[in-house]
Amino acid sequence: MTTQIKSRAQYLEEYAASVNDPEAFWRKEAETFKWQQPFDAVVDWDFRELNVKWFLNGKLNITENCLDRHIENRGDQLALIWEPNGADEASKGYTYKELLAEVNRCANGLKSKGVQKGDRVIFYMPMIPELAIAVLACARIGAIHSVVFAGFSAQALTDRVDDAEAKMIICADYNRRGYKNIPVKQVVDEAMDIGCNSVESVLVFKNTGDEVNWSDDVDCWWSDIVTDQSDICRPEIMDSEDVLFILYTSGSTGKPKGVVHTCGGYMVYTCYSFRNVFQYQEGDIYWCTADIGWITGHSYILYGPLLAGATSMMFEGVPTYPDAGRFWAICEKHRVNQFYTAPTAIRALMARGDEWPAKYDLSALKVLGSVGEPINEEAWHWYNDKIGKGKAPIVDTWWQTETGGIMLSPLPHITDTKPTYAGYPLPGIQPVLVNSDGKILNDNNVEGLLCIKFPWPSMIRTTYGDHNRCKEVYFSMFDNLYFTGDGARRDEDGRIRVIGRVDDVINVSGHRMGTAEVENAINEQESVIESAVVGYPHPIKGQGIYAFIISSAKKLDDELKLEICKTVSKEIGPIAKPDCIQFVDGLPKTRSGKIMRRILRKIASDDDAHLGDISTLLNPDIVELIKKGAIRR
Ligand code: PRX
Repeated sequence: MTTQIKSRAQYLEEYAASVNDPEAFWRKEAETFKWQQPFDAVVDWDFRELNVKWFLNGKLNITENCLDRHIENRGDQLALIWEPNGADEASKGYTYKELLAEVNRCANGLKSKGVQKGDRVIFYMPMIPELAIAVLACARIGAIHSVVFAGFSAQALTDRVDDAEAKMIICADYNRRGYKNIPVKQVVDEAMDIGCNSVESVLVFKNTGDEVNWSDDVDCWWSDIVTDQSDICRPEIMDSEDVLFILYTSGSTGKPKGVVHTCGGYMVYTCYSFRNVFQYQEGDIYWCTADIGWITGHSYILYGPLLAGATSMMFEGVPTYPDAGRFWAICEKHRVNQFYTAPTAIRALMARGDEWPAKYDLSALKVLGSVGEPINEEAWHWYNDKIGKGKAPIVDTWWQTETGGIMLSPLPHITDTKPTYAGYPLPGIQPVLVNSDGKILNDNNVEGLLCIKFPWPSMIRTTYGDHNRCKEVYFSMFDNLYFTGDGARRDEDGRIRVIGRVDDVINVSGHRMGTAEVENAINEQESVIESAVVGYPHPIKGQGIYAFIISSAKKLDDELKLEICKTVSKEIGPIAKPDCIQFVDGLPKTRSGKIMRRILRKIASDDDAHLGDISTLLNPDIVELIKKGAIRR
């Protein structure tokens, strides 16, 4: 097993070792895994040309490390616990032995449909065990998985399938979320109608058994393909740098990009970070509430915990069904020891009142995690006091789809916690703050742009099909640095607080969205001439979406707003619907025609008393008009 740090002194020692001799540091951690063939060098990197390789020429299969490796010592221990949507339904458990057997059956099923090493498989699934099983089955046979969050629309699904040129889509008939039955097979059918020409088969798991449309040419049932397969499947031998998965995420421009993670480095870092950040001990029950459609679910429901031989729980439902006590009821029921969720969920549950957590026995909790967006002081204190009762430290974990694993976080019971601060870097991570000229700010008590100056094993390797884009977006802003897109502050003791995005990315309920992407969707509504989207502070969601829209429609009313929201839902999904729409006659632009988002951001945030100099605008008069019509909360 990878090292588990036990004291502050050891943290300081490990950190120093990781900076002084990164190769020796990571060699020691990597050698704790099972390699089919040992690697012959630890790292080879060049940020300028963007070439990053870890554990060179090592051969492995990540599922052998997640599953087979544990059979001898903990074959009968639970690997996965599944908590269903309904509170009165039985939960389900899979031991490591059982999970391995299921993964192998599924892997053989995928092979029987012609899926081979290197093929891309897109997932559009609910949070059920079969999602975990099939993702691991892909990794078993060397197929590249790309999980699409099932809240995305048919159009967004098609975009991802087409970009990945996927051979197969795996979905369920229906997803269950709270009171809703969502017809996901129907969304896949629509996607297949729009595009998806590379798809040869759609594998459907019968989740609710409700009726679906069927096309014998492509559709096949899980029960026909998987259930009767052999439970033995030789793991495909993968190179360290073979692609493990693609995960699509939004940037400031264009369509979402496919972030590529590879086998060896991702394996080493997710296991290492999981064991340290959550201080997982033998016998603990660990629960991360994320959806596997996001990176958090990949790294910290599936790979990290399974690599570490943990018992990891996944939950099908939503935090407020059947009532606002559901999370806490689940913590009590399974005696959860480590609980990992997002600030949005914390704020939403906090708003429902203290009586909900007070009803349940939360005494098993040892560590509380937060991820995905900045956590505000109030939510931090509520989480700390009402959920952790002051005894379970909060690990405010900062990281990104691109980083693959947690980069900044307190180590619970080891390093201190400070409200709203993600704290110190994990060993192996070398963050720096720079000013807008790229000068590294070495002092404490400064604010700057967050960059990373040395590679780490689970970092992004490329964006699928477009290496140049990856180089441009992350490695060309500042010489020889990975640029995160976040602004941050370092306090007098060196702890880091991530303030938020400095680019045109907004973070709504922990979901990342590009303003350009939302604008493009809005512009699809036939009456829309032009639009500009910005984020504004939202009490529950962290950020809300505020859209300024020029429309040619005669009636600029609520009905039109609804139409625009419908268009966005169709193009991206309901998560991208604007919270506020203001119809405007013009948008503030520079003389070169660029929209001045800074001004719009201030107006949307109700912070427009001092807008600074606007006289250089092409159309300064429009600003007063927009201010007058602004939606005030
Ligand atoms: O702005 C940061 C914010 O979420 C962004 C990454 O989003 P995504 O790739 O979807 O990954 C989310 C889950 C890892 C970051 O650029 N973010 C994430 N965690 C934190 C955070 N902001 C502040 N504090 C955090 N703990």
